[in-house]
Amino acid sequence: MENTRKKVVAIATAALTALSLTACGGGSSTSTATSGSATTSTASSATSTTSTAAGTSGGTVANKDKPVCWYNRQPSNSSTGELDMTALNFNDKTYYVGFDANQGAELQGQMILDYIKKNAASIDRNGDGVIGYVLAIGDIGHNDSIARTRGVRKALGTAVEKDGEIDSAPVGTNTDGSATDVQDGTIDVDGKTYTVRELASQEMKNSAGATWDAATAGNTIGTWSSSFGDQIDIVASNNDGMGMSMFNSWSKDNKVPTFGYDANSDAVAAIAEGYGGTISQHADVQAYLTLRVLRNALDGVDIDTGIGTADDAGNVLTSDVYEYNADERSYYALNVAVTADNYQDFTDATKVYDPVSKQLDSSAHPTKKVWLDIYNASDNFLSSTYQPLLQNYDDLLNLDVEYVGGDGQTESNITNRLGNPSAYDAFAINMVKTDNASSYTSLLSQ
Ligand code: BGC
Repeated sequence: MENTRKKVVAIATAALTALSLTACGGGSSTSTATSGSATTSTASSATSTTSTAAGTSGGTVANKDKPVCWYNRQPSNSSTGELDMTALNFNDKTYYVGFDANQGAELQGQMILDYIKKNAASIDRNGDGVIGYVLAIGDIGHNDSIARTRGVRKALGTAVEKDGEIDSAPVGTNTDGSATDVQDGTIDVDGKTYTVRELASQEMKNSAGATWDAATAGNTIGTWSSSFGDQIDIVASNNDGMGMSMFNSWSKDNKVPTFGYDANSDAVAAIAEGYGGTISQHADVQAYLTLRVLRNALDGVDIDTGIGTADDAGNVLTSDVYEYNADERSYYALNVAVTADNYQDFTDATKVYDPVSKQLDSSAHPTKKVWLDIYNASDNFLSSTYQPLLQNYDDLLNLDVEYVGGDGQTESNITNRLGNPSAYDAFAINMVKTDNASSYTSLLSQ
């Protein structure tokens, strides 16, 4: 009896907290911490959320039993790449959503190789018989970044093996071809054999520790081009944020083809101005899956609902755009190369994917509250492509999402803002460092 009473009080308190949190309009809101301290909150949608009996936020479910979706940064050891299965199995409603890193990396390498073959006559700018490229590396401890570095080296013949796998370490500067983490490759085109050399590569990390840092890439291409500019025939980047920064500060004017990854809208538009190409990691499918697995777990339905099996609104994905690995509890979107041949089809990176764009009925799928963070509010891909997509899907899936943007450097900058997990029904987590899953799960386990 006493227990039941306590429970009721707890529910009432949770409901009150939820109401006060949604009082200024509900819908989606974004809070961003600048330089690790100040927090601002802006309501970006006007749908008002009232907690009905079925939709009461927090409710009686213990935080440790609530749905969790890791996304974009897969819980894994940042040195060995080994998946963190404890985090991926945090509870029976835990999943990861990302994309197939190896398939995408292979596509990126192939896209660059195809470009070289097709433009052989003009590619070697200084005519020295060496096709030189520079490579911007995102984060040496991030599996997706590692895969992309390997994909480029493999396709261009510059890869060397280390411990049975392609070495993905940055080389620093290698204009004389003496580096040991890569080798010189060769490409035969039109009866001529070219040497291919990774002239330089570097992790683009700023002094405060933020990785995939576009500004660092822009500065670095300045340094590289002033010391060996005419040797650079190709610029390759682990992502478009860094790629576009290098393109805008140097390669566009010097007509050096630059290749990125993500198919952000600005990069796709730049293809018309000489950007070499990019890879779509199907963020439109990933953003949907990120929220969809939470929706399904909250509804208590089969996890495949609205994914491989049509839901009651008709949303369904086909197997050419994603795969599910049950052992890894992971959904992986498939990648598509975006080049001068097809970029017109990819101009708006924030458009929802048509087959999963139907509104769920709010009586069958009542509004639930989701806490979601973005590891770095300034990450080009996450802020200009992924978050706008999430904001489109949260309405369609009746999820009231609170968006929290981190500084890209410190996990606590984000975890500090998960002070009251009981106010939410589910969590979508994008870690600063892929080793840090327990910083979040420990908060949910208290
Ligand atoms: C994207 C990068 C982004 C990174 C953040 C990757 O999937 O390609 O652009 O910076 O995720 O984790």
